[in-house]
Amino acid sequence: MIVVNETLKVIKQRRSIRNFKGEQIKEEELQAVLEAGLHAPNAGNQAWHFTVIQNRELLERLNSAAKEAAKEMNIEQLRALGNNEKFNCLYGAPTLIIVSGNEQAPMPLDADCAAATQNLLLAAESIELGSCWIFFVLLAFNSPQGSELRKALKIPEGYKPHSSAVLGYKKVATVNVPDRKPNLITYIR
Ligand SMILES: Cc1cc2nc3c(=O)[nH]c(=O)nc-3n(C[C@H](O)[C@H](O)[C@H](O)COP(=O)(O)O)c2cc1C
Repeated sequence: MIVVNETLKVIKQRRSIRNFKGEQIKEEELQAVLEAGLHAPNAGNQAWHFTVIQNRELLERLNSAAKEAAKEMNIEQLRALGNNEKFNCLYGAPTLIIVSGNEQAPMPLDADCAAATQNLLLAAESIELGSCWIFFVLLAFNSPQGSELRKALKIPEGYKPHSSAVLGYKKVATVNVPDRKPNLITYIR
């Protein structure tokens, strides 16, 4: 018998959404997603911090600072995005959650923050919100405005922004599911 339940369906259904309605998500939706993030497995005794940004002006500042930093990168693809006037690294989403990790934590924090971020995305899909993991926007913290932005976002001292996710209502209900690559699993039995 094939096992299927709501959790497995949500995991398979979740796709990166890059087209959002302008409308802000509801507070209870945001809280449900955040709570899921806080329940992720973690090795550092919850040594993370979540920053929710719903201020349009700050979202735009982050986008433009990240693009400025991207222009200076030695990765061609990032430079091209930085120079593309039409590109918005947050895709116009009304909510961004940045997951930062306490650099003093003794355990591998990157994994903790990544697990939390994945929980955010899955929780979002489970309540029909669109979401996308965004690395690009973190480039803003390498830009000349980086420390000013950290202050404006009240990222606690000693915490490093690790990953982020945008949230919003999907403009398009479905996106194509790319086939999974074959031969990615080895069984030793
Ligand atoms: C660590 C990480 C960083 C990512 N950064 C970005 C990003 O900056 N911008 C973006 O559009 N998508 C980003 N993504 C989303 C991936 O492009 C996406 O997950 C991948 O193409 C698979 O598609 P799916 O999420 O629809 O399954 C990131 C994903 C991960 C795991």
